[in-house]
Amino acid sequence: MDSTPQNWRAADDFLSDLLVGHDSDLEAALAAQHAAGLPDIEVAPVAGKLLNLLVRMSGARRVLEIGTLGGYSTIWMARAVGEEGRVVTIEAESANAAVARASIDAAGVGERVDIRIGRAADVLPTLVGGFDLVFIDADKESNTIYLDWAAKLGHPGTVVIVDNIGRDGEIVNDASTDSKVIGTRDGLRMLAGDPRFDATALQTVGVKGWDGVAIALLV
Ligand code: DHB
Ligand code: MG
Repeated sequence: MDSTPQNWRAADDFLSDLLVGHDSDLEAALAAQHAAGLPDIEVAPVAGKLLNLLVRMSGARRVLEIGTLGGYSTIWMARAVGEEGRVVTIEAESANAAVARASIDAAGVGERVDIRIGRAADVLPTLVGGFDLVFIDADKESNTIYLDWAAKLGHPGTVVIVDNIGRDGEIVNDASTDSKVIGTRDGLRMLAGDPRFDATALQTVGVKGWDGVAIALLV
């Protein structure tokens, strides 16, 4: 096989069909997101399941998500925190939050999910800490701000995940003028240099092209 975006997608679809399968609540959430005109930039199915597994593997009961969009990743994580677990998810756009609220409730995990509407930089200082897992998936320009809050609102052992760290390989381009690339590179440098974090990153290819995820532990 040639390494082409089309073949990455086919292999990702194969893995999703095999290991994730079909789920009417998650698919309804994506359909509602699409129908409402939100961008199709939610995590891939295999990545949604990765988030679900990371919550369960780490035993996280309090999860913080920065960037709700239509609630797809939120549902994956809310299912993993258990009956008594909670997900606080921050969304800047109230229209997105309304779509997410309906889909999360329809998926039967509404009582576990607290959606906070506002710019994350404004909402984060209002939160009570103690989060066991933080998923950062919002405006890439603010990744260092979000990482700083993840460290403040977590504890030693908290898992921190940053979406979209691959950016078509542009992360190596120190002359990039793309604000998302610059924000992503700044976040990666912070994960490397800030002693509060111990981190790695994985590149991915698949339905979302050439991208990746950083995974860190608060030490
Ligand atoms: C974009 C944002 C995301 O979180 C993502 O997963 C893919 C793309 C974007 O802003 O373009
Ligand atoms: Mg993302």
